[in-house]
Amino acid sequence: MKIVIASDHAGYFLKEKIKDFLDKEGYEVIDVGTYSTVSVDYPEYGYKAIEKILKGEADKGILICGTGLGMSIVANRFPKIRAALCHEPFSAQMARRHNDANVLALGGRLIGDGMAIEIVKTFLSTEFEKGRHERRINLIEELSNLKPK
Ligand code: RB5
Repeated sequence: MKIVIASDHAGYFLKEKIKDFLDKEGYEVIDVGTYSTVSVDYPEYGYKAIEKILKGEADKGILICGTGLGMSIVANRFPKIRAALCHEPFSAQMARRHNDANVLALGGRLIGDGMAIEIVKTFLSTEFEKGRHERRINLIEELSNLKPK
């Protein structure tokens, strides 16, 4: 599984920790930056990661900013992207089982490294349940294409 990872300056340290973990676990990781704690704009880095998924160059994404909010807002603007902001593993599990989330957003200023790694482990190892949940996922795409009357 190919994972694209991105952060802004506020998520940089957590990105590095998660990248180490993913490398050790044998995942192929594409790091699209940022590469330091110099202040940057999270939409630019969120988009770099989303682009990789939309082009089929990555299967899943992990986006980190200070709160995870900005990154999740950016990611969810794009079709077929379902980004879940998670602060604990149960949300990550449900985001996969019911929402087929393909992007995990994390808040580097909110959670510790240990919690973040547990969330990532759960996110990457949990399967989508399909069935009625697939119908709902398809509805999101359908409804988001409607023009308000
Ligand atoms: C940067 O200060 C901060 O605004 C950003 O990392 C993020 O939390 C935005 O949602």
